[in-house]
Amino acid sequence: MQQSVRIAPSILAADFARLGEEIKALEDAGADFIHIDVMDGHFVPNLTVGPSLVQALRPHSSLPFDVHLMISPVDDFVPKFAEAGADIITVHPEAGPDAARTIALIKKQGKKAGIALNPGTPADAVGPVLGEVDLILVMSVEPGFGGQTFMASQLDKIRTLRDRIDASGRRIDLEVDGGITADTAPQAVAAGADLLVAGTATFAGGPSRYADNMSRLRGDA
Ligand code: DX5
Ligand code: ZN
Repeated sequence: MQQSVRIAPSILAADFARLGEEIKALEDAGADFIHIDVMDGHFVPNLTVGPSLVQALRPHSSLPFDVHLMISPVDDFVPKFAEAGADIITVHPEAGPDAARTIALIKKQGKKAGIALNPGTPADAVGPVLGEVDLILVMSVEPGFGGQTFMASQLDKIRTLRDRIDASGRRIDLEVDGGITADTAPQAVAAGADLLVAGTATFAGGPSRYADNMSRLRGDA
């Protein structure tokens, strides 16, 4: 069942010199999750943060940390991010070698597990793990960078996955990541998304705007 819209700000668009204060400001402004993009310069053409940053941020927020791993190979890092304080760990099947095994590893750490699909990866890729995952993330841009344009071509995939989640009877968050704005958020939600990652659109205008920016993405303002 589609749940009410929740917002997961991506800290990729935050002021990296003040990250602790930034995530505190997001929590005060009503964020639902903190989305942390982990990139390795190999699976995607950008390099961001590792488990030590997650650990350093952990005392600054009580919100769930939604850790999006764009790294390959990934399995050795799952326990490290779990210990650092991740609550949800999301991985890409394209990162290989065996998404089902990685999902099992995440669950074994006592964490929620997500599977993320690149724009070119079909909805069918979730089939083998639909019975295990807590979250499905649809990439609406090519992963690697914030500030890209939403790919409307992904809306059909979101609809297909909404139907599959509902048919499964399981509670699975359907998250959309990339190019979410006040214009594209309603499209993603109408297609069935209930969790929106938003970097650029959340952080625009600085901390005094975070609450309003997120309200607009939820469709409340
Ligand atoms: C892209 C990341 C996204 C990105 C979103 O690879 O997974 O989370 O930071 O940024 P915006 O909201 O600016 O498109
Ligand atoms: Zn992300």
